[in-house]
Amino acid sequence: MSETKIALVTGANKGIGYEIAAGLGALGYRVGVGARDEPRHEAAVEKLRAAGVDAFGVPLDVTGDRSVTDAAELVERQAGRLDVLVNNAGISGETGPGWAQDPTTLDLDVVRTVVETNVIGVIRVTNAMLPLLRRSTSPRIVNVSSSVASLTLQASSDVKAGPIMAAYSPSKSFLNAVTVQYARQLAGTNILINAACPGLVATDFTGFQGPRTPEQGAATAIRLATLPDGGPTGSFFEDDGVIPW
Ligand SMILES: NC(=O)c1ccc[n+]([C@@H]2O[C@H](COP(=O)([O-])OP(=O)(O)OC[C@H]3O[C@@H](n4cnc5c(N)ncnc54)[C@H](OP(=O)(O)O)[C@@H]3O)[C@@H](O)[C@H]2O)c1
Repeated sequence: MSETKIALVTGANKGIGYEIAAGLGALGYRVGVGARDEPRHEAAVEKLRAAGVDAFGVPLDVTGDRSVTDAAELVERQAGRLDVLVNNAGISGETGPGWAQDPTTLDLDVVRTVVETNVIGVIRVTNAMLPLLRRSTSPRIVNVSSSVASLTLQASSDVKAGPIMAAYSPSKSFLNAVTVQYARQLAGTNILINAACPGLVATDFTGFQGPRTPEQGAATAIRLATLPDGGPTGSFFEDDGVIPW
């Protein structure tokens, strides 16, 4: 088996995903740059290569069965296996003033769209990539979540609970719950799967509001992607440690 580790990051054309790809590349990983838009994935691959990263483009819309199947075939052709999958692609869905999504007036299509991307998309991609991950000696899966998913923080006045976001926030709670189910199912294998919160990061997602840079936002996901054997699984982390469910 080749020594170079192979990673795939979804939604890697910009923001936190791009920086996760750059960070793993800087650690010597060969990185598949997942992106749903062709010109954008090509531009990201070029930029990463210019920075010295061994990157290859992976056209990948997490909401499309065919797109995800094709992406798995492409990774198999390019690399033959996968050591790291980072499920980073995510959307907030339409919001009102102050990023709010009022549960009492919520458009059901917003809920469907957000769950389709943030939850079903992650299951679709993970299951398509699992055969390739099982060929690795130390497979790692990282689901990019958010502290707004924490029901414990939602029930407190903690600033990390964020605004009321009745589609986005529960979608990440759902993602966390799914992460735990995978961890239970994969217990006893060498696959470690965890959820990561990047903190409040200035990206397109937040209208470039937020105290953290995309590079800072990528740090926890990179740490979880590179955990040693025997490391934690089925947990939820930020830079400072574990986040309560
Ligand atoms: N920024 C924050 O403060 C923050 C806080 C907590 C958690 N997060 C999470 O961090 C992750 C990355 O967010 P970000 O801030 O970097 O946002 P971003 O700059 O908006 O990037 C989101 C990425 O996801 C991609 N994407 C969206 N839908 C997709 C789909 N159906 N298929 C494939 N790719 C898709 C986007 O592609 P396009 O360019 O084609 O749209 C883009 O590459 C998300 O999961 C988000 O929920 C962010």
